[in-house]
Amino acid sequence: MTQTITVIRGDGIGPEIMDAALYVLDAMHLGLQYEDADAGLVALEKHGELLPAATLESISRNKIALKSPLTTPVGEGFSSINVELRKRFDLYANVRPAKSFPNTKSRFPTGVDLITVRENTEGAYIGEGQQVTEDGATATLVQKITRKGSERIVRYAFDLARRTGRKKVTVVHKANILKSTSGLFLKVAREVAAQYPEIECNEMIVDNTCMQLVMKPEQFDIIVTTNLFGDIISDLCAGLVGGLGLAPGANIGADTAIFEAVHGSAPDIAGKGIANPCALLLAAGQMLDHIGQPGKASRLREAIVATLEAKDSLTPDLGGSGTTMSFAKAIASRV
Ligand code: NAI
Ligand code: MG
Repeated sequence: MTQTITVIRGDGIGPEIMDAALYVLDAMHLGLQYEDADAGLVALEKHGELLPAATLESISRNKIALKSPLTTPVGEGFSSINVELRKRFDLYANVRPAKSFPNTKSRFPTGVDLITVRENTEGAYIGEGQQVTEDGATATLVQKITRKGSERIVRYAFDLARRTGRKKVTVVHKANILKSTSGLFLKVAREVAAQYPEIECNEMIVDNTCMQLVMKPEQFDIIVTTNLFGDIISDLCAGLVGGLGLAPGANIGADTAIFEAVHGSAPDIAGKGIANPCALLLAAGQMLDHIGQPGKASRLREAIVATLEAKDSLTPDLGGSGTTMSFAKAIASRV
């Protein structure tokens, strides 16, 4: 059976890491067909738009996209193409695993294996109603949390735990101070948690969570939280395990999902062939889990770990002297 996915090669290091990722996926004989679609600076040059209608149609049709980073030029239409894509397809769950890998020079070379599930559509992060008074003295924004938004993200986290055999969900909040917004999120989270008696649920205030993550990250399994807290916490978690070259993310909606690296288009190393392809490959692993190929997803992750263990052709960010493509070939030889 073949499945068509939309492939967005993106800007900067995007095309290089996508070539490398597709080289590895091809070696796995997954029965995937790729439909190329443009977005970002490349699209602006070719079609005069950052996010062409044909790209949106391709994603709507295929429901699954693998996406490289995009450069959002300052002062061109939307504030961010990525935020625009999340809105268009109501991609409410931002799922970011952080896992210890060998030979990464990270603070936690072992012991971390957690997933941050971040609400992706509401809360302070979306910047609703931002205003500054004319005299520049007072700034405001509206922070809105809904029962619907809270319920679907917490349910996503518990279903993910159930599906993947994880044991614990930590609900991260600030309901002691933000009694209305964070309070509603926590209340709904408790209601949902009660429907999953086999999964341990604990609650943690966000500032304490940050300290606990740095001191004892092994205590966390799945974290579920609101948009802005999730933005900050997931970067903290990426930092614990060795940084951007190894941090993937999925944006998941009811019927559409977009898989990408957490990092950006890295203009400083673009065109040099030295970008680490692992973050995008790990995102492809999340995609394989999502489309019902969990066995292949595990094989891909195992091949990445084996290549890191062997220090075979690692890119310079991991202390090696390999290239994007030689690293990919080393991984492909192990799938
Ligand atoms: P960045 O993530 O592109 O780069 C930060 C640092 O990490 C740079 O030193 C870069 O060389 C390094 N780096 C990033 N990915 C790497 C990889 N795979 N291998 C080795 N080193 C890597 O962040 P920056 O510079 O703030 O943003 C550059 C552009 O990317 C901006 O236009 C921004 O809007 C865009 N961006 C796009 C994202 C997306 O499409 N999802 C996410 C974040 C930023
Ligand atoms: Mg962020």
